[in-house]
Amino acid sequence: MASITATAAALLMLLPSAPTLSLAYTPSRVRSPSPLWRRASSSRSVPPAGFYNPAANGGEMLTVAPNTGGLGEPLNVIVSGNSDELVLADNEDKGGFRNWMISVGFASECLGQHAGDAQTANLGDGNGQLNETSELRWDYGDPNLGTCKETINGGNHFRYWIQDGPSGNSGAFFLATSYEMPIQDGHNIVFDGYNLGRDWLVGNATAQSNLIPTGNVTNGTTYSGKTSFGNYTYSTDAVYLTGILSNSTSGLNHASSVGGNGVEAVDGLVAVLTVKVLSTPTASASGALPSLSTPWWPLGATLLLTTLTLSQSLLSLSA
Ligand SMILES: *[C@@H]1O[C@H](CO)[C@@H](O)[C@H](O)[C@H]1NC(C)=O
Ligand SMILES: *[C@@H]1O[C@H](CO)[C@@H](O)[C@H](O)[C@H]1NC(C)=O
Ligand SMILES: *[C@@H]1O[C@H](CO)[C@@H](O)[C@H](O)[C@H]1NC(C)=O
Ligand SMILES: *[C@@H]1O[C@H](CO)[C@@H](O)[C@H](O)[C@H]1NC(C)=O
Ligand SMILES: *[C@@H]1O[C@H](CO)[C@@H](O)[C@H](O)[C@H]1NC(C)=O
Ligand SMILES: *[C@@H]1O[C@H](CO)[C@@H](O)[C@H](O)[C@H]1NC(C)=O
Repeated sequence: MASITATAAALLMLLPSAPTLSLAYTPSRVRSPSPLWRRASSSRSVPPAGFYNPAANGGEMLTVAPNTGGLGEPLNVIVSGNSDELVLADNEDKGGFRNWMISVGFASECLGQHAGDAQTANLGDGNGQLNETSELRWDYGDPNLGTCKETINGGNHFRYWIQDGPSGNSGAFFLATSYEMPIQDGHNIVFDGYNLGRDWLVGNATAQSNLIPTGNVTNGTTYSGKTSFGNYTYSTDAVYLTGILSNSTSGLNHASSVGGNGVEAVDGLVAVLTVKVLSTPTASASGALPSLSTPWWPLGATLLLTTLTLSQSLLSLSA
C-alpha cells in the first residue's frame, strides 16, 4: 500500500504539468500491443546501412517546400531502420518515436495546430512524393505547451517522413531539421541553421554536455548517450556520414541567407541515429512491449487512487 501511495503521489505531481501523459498509463493502452508495430515488423526489410538511399531509386535527399518553385530543405537526420521496433512506431503513448523525441526535447506542434502547407518528399521507396508525416518542435522543457513558444520565438524543429513504401521498406525515419527565426521574421532559417539544427538535435539525443562542433564534424564522427521520458530509457548512437546528401546549395530553399563566408548552407553530412530501448515502464526486457500477462490492476488501482486524491484536493480547494 505504501508504495502504491508513493506512486500515486509521484503521478499526482506529474499530472498538472502533463495531463496527456496520464493517458499513457491507462491499463488498456499498456496491455494492447500496437497494430502498427506488428505490421511493421512483419514486412520491413532493412539493409545493413539501416535505410535505402532515396537517390538510388528516384527519390531525393531534399524536400520540396510549397510555393518556392520546387526548392527544399535537406533531410539531414535519419533514424535507422536498425533501431528497436518500439521506437520506429509513430506513437507517443507506447514508447514510440514521439515519446523518444520528447525525451530529446521535441514535441507536437502548439495545441495541435499546423500553420502553412505541407512540404513533400520522395524517399525512393515506391510511395512517390508524399506530404510530411508530421512536424515536431523544440519544446523548451515543456512537452505540452513549449512548442507554442517555439512557434513564436523560433528554434529547432523538423518535419519527417517514414521510408515504408513497397520498394524500400526500411522503416527508417527521415528528418528535415533546421533552426528557424521568430514568427515576426517569417520563420526563415537562421545562418547555418540546417547544419546547426541537425547538430543540436544530435547533441540532445545523445545527451552531450558540450555543443557538437559543427565545423569539425567529418565522415565517421560518432556520439552516444541516453535519454528518458515516461519511464522509457533510450540509448542513441549517432554516426555522421557523407555521400548521401550532396554538399551543395543547388535546389535549396533559403540557400543565400543560410550559407556564405565559407560556411556551406548544407555541409553534406547526414547524422544516422540508431535508437535502442534500455528500459520500459514495466521494466520488461529491453525492446519488448509489456506482455499480455502483465498484471494491470496495480496500475488501475494507482490511477483510481490518483483520480480520487486529485478530486479530493480539488474539492478541498474549492471548499
Ligand atoms: C497534402 O497537404 C496539403 C496541405 O498542405 C493538402 O491540401 C493535401 O490534401 C495533402 N495531401 C494528402 C494526400 O494528404
Ligand atoms: C539542445 O537543443 C537546444 C535547443 O535547440 C540548444 O540550445 C542546445 O544547445 C542543444 N544542446 C546540445 C548539447 O546540442
Ligand atoms: C575544430 O578544429 C580546430 C582544428 O583542429 C580546433 O582548433 C578547434 O578548437 C576545433 N573546434 C571545436 C569547437 O572543437
Ligand atoms: C564514412 O564513414 C563510414 C563509417 O565510419 C565508412 O563506412 C565509410 O566508408 C566512410 N565514407 C567515406 C566516403 O569515407
Ligand atoms: C563541401 O564542399 C566544400 C567545397 O567544395 C569542401 O571544402 C568541404 O570539405 C565539403 N564538405 C564535405 C562534408 O564534404
Ligand atoms: C517510473 O519509475 C519510477 C522509479 O522506478 C517508479 O516509482 C514509477 O512507478 C514508474 N512509473 C511508471 C508509470 O511506470
